[in-house]
Amino acid sequence: MPQEEPLLAPRVSSEQSSIRNAEEEDALLTGERTSRSERQRGWGFWREVGLFAWALIATAAVIVIAVIYQHESSGVQSDGKHSWGPGGKPTGKRNLVFMVSDGMGPTSLSMTRSFKQLTQGLPADEVLVLDKHILGTSRTRSSSSLVTDSAAGATAFSCGFKSYNGAISVLPDHSPCGTVLEAASLAGYKTGLVVTTRITDATPACFASHVNLRQYEDRIAEQEIGEHPLGRVVDLIMGGGRCHFLPNTTDGSCRADDRDLLAIAQEKGFNYLNDRKAFDSLNGGAEAKLPLLGLFADKDIPYEIDRRTQNDVYPSLEEMSRAALKILSEATADSEQGFFLMIEGSRIDHAGHGNDPAAQVNEVLAYDKAFAAVLEFLDKDSTPGVLVGTSDHETGGLAVARQLHVTYPEYLWLPGVLANASHSAEYAANELQNHLGQEPDDAARQAYTRELLKKALGVEDATQEEVDALVDTENPIPPAFVFADIISRRAQVGWSTHGHSGVDVNIYASSTKDAWALQGNHENTEVGTFLANYLDLDIDAVTKRLEDSKFWSSSSPPSTQGEIDENKSFNWLGDPLGEDVRIEDLDSYHGDFKKRSLGGIEELECGCGAVH
Ligand SMILES: *[C@@H]1O[C@H](CO)[C@@H](O)[C@H](O)[C@H]1NC(C)=O
Ligand SMILES: *[C@@H]1O[C@H](CO)[C@@H](O)[C@H](O)[C@H]1NC(C)=O
Ligand SMILES: *[C@@H]1O[C@H](CO)[C@@H](O)[C@H](O)[C@H]1NC(C)=O
Ligand SMILES: [Zn+2]
Ligand SMILES: [Zn+2]
Repeated sequence: MPQEEPLLAPRVSSEQSSIRNAEEEDALLTGERTSRSERQRGWGFWREVGLFAWALIATAAVIVIAVIYQHESSGVQSDGKHSWGPGGKPTGKRNLVFMVSDGMGPTSLSMTRSFKQLTQGLPADEVLVLDKHILGTSRTRSSSSLVTDSAAGATAFSCGFKSYNGAISVLPDHSPCGTVLEAASLAGYKTGLVVTTRITDATPACFASHVNLRQYEDRIAEQEIGEHPLGRVVDLIMGGGRCHFLPNTTDGSCRADDRDLLAIAQEKGFNYLNDRKAFDSLNGGAEAKLPLLGLFADKDIPYEIDRRTQNDVYPSLEEMSRAALKILSEATADSEQGFFLMIEGSRIDHAGHGNDPAAQVNEVLAYDKAFAAVLEFLDKDSTPGVLVGTSDHETGGLAVARQLHVTYPEYLWLPGVLANASHSAEYAANELQNHLGQEPDDAARQAYTRELLKKALGVEDATQEEVDALVDTENPIPPAFVFADIISRRAQVGWSTHGHSGVDVNIYASSTKDAWALQGNHENTEVGTFLANYLDLDIDAVTKRLEDSKFWSSSSPPSTQGEIDENKSFNWLGDPLGEDVRIEDLDSYHGDFKKRSLGGIEELECGCGAVH
């Protein structure tokens, strides 16, 4: 379908805003409220009333015209491929691509846009592909917190329901909810999941599995390859996370048991791809056979900033996305139904957790390229389809401004600092750890650290204090955080947390016409509802089938009614009380306002099974 103009025109800033800003700044500095409201009610007052009334009428007229225009233009699609308008549903064969930018908040876009303009020598009006396709915003809270995690966030997309942080497509009452991917599979669509982190991580897990806690990644892996009450529901898997598929007797395994899921998957018919060479043998997708299981890393695929120099080892998100689109489209060429594909830019979130702005801008750019690749596919494909993209939440409380001194802050941030970095803080920390382990001499350790700062991060002016913080093995702050802070301070980029934040995130779409229901500000569950509606799927029917699987077990046939042990109902979801988990209602203040102590900070380090 034809590419559209930018969905929202930029707002023209009002003349008065600079005056108001000056007043607000005065108020900020003096701590006093501005007193505009205390003027006398003279002629000025009535003149303002008149102007206000006039403005109100004019605004109303514009809204009426806009609504009429909207109705006219969104009723029937001009290209005649299919119709989908207010109150209607699309008809005929169609494809749905859902993209998740995990942890990408509005500030990530501003930061990446400026970075792109600087590094590619572009003018200020050359924006990201994403910028041209913004459609609305999503409110992200979960049933248990104003700040969601990726599990509850993805459950909102996959099932269309709010649940608790940690829930993998189960509701607060610990019953499973049917997902858009399962419903699509049962309806005859081909389905796929493409990610850059573990395929068992929360976001992909929510589409193809159900467990009470996201940490049960071994079970998630089993369900993803078809040990699932509905049978196999995913046709194509690409990403990392091989470790949960390897028996605990094998190097690189992170399974608790000795089950060989790669062997089991292949018995079930999966074509298994282990590495870049196997990916290349697909010839861009032309040579692929479904079902397909591509696991290209034990855990995460490296950050794009590190991956681009290892392109012969790991495929990029764009490459995997293009291949997946080709494979799914060819596999459905002769069928009545199209496909559902979920693509995740998984590690934007990890860069946020690590407070690493150089890693993050490159993750967002890689996601932007994958987004563009999907647009290109939809544009050329003869089957109609829609791309909807959004984030599950923001990560890091990112700000493109940072006050470094007590004196009045400067109004700037410096993308050039990020442009000078050639690696992530995570990479630098690994290099440092490997080297310092074999280097006892202190002067040599310091020299190596300074050289690494120069080579990996482009930082030539590290202070002695900063170098000491990296060399000191007793420092409770992990080197990856120190490296990230060194970059962030110099770029004047601020972070308020190593976790997630509660800000609304953006919703994107290939076209307004196909995703009109998502214009404006929405609850994240409405994104999930839209996905199911677009493919005309009956999610409730899937939920009902899952409820009928109360006593299902992967190893034995379901027990027959009469001899069932009620205590084993939904045993396959794993222990619901695995830890102290809040299910519903928000926490309240109980006296915690101090800076947290650094004790136990090691637990914050990202690793396999880390909660993002
Ligand atoms: C490996 O898994 C088996 C069960 O499948 C278990 O008995 C054994 O203790 C595990 N070994 C390790 C090292 O975790
Ligand atoms: C980037 O690196 C170059 C070469 O080392 C240096 O001259 C320049 O000042 C650096 N820019 C920033 C913003 O750090
Ligand atoms: C079910 O669980 C309850 C409480 O934990 C226990 O008292 C009861 O004996 C269990 N029933 C069976 C059949 O195991
Ligand atoms: Zn995710
Ligand atoms: Zn996260």
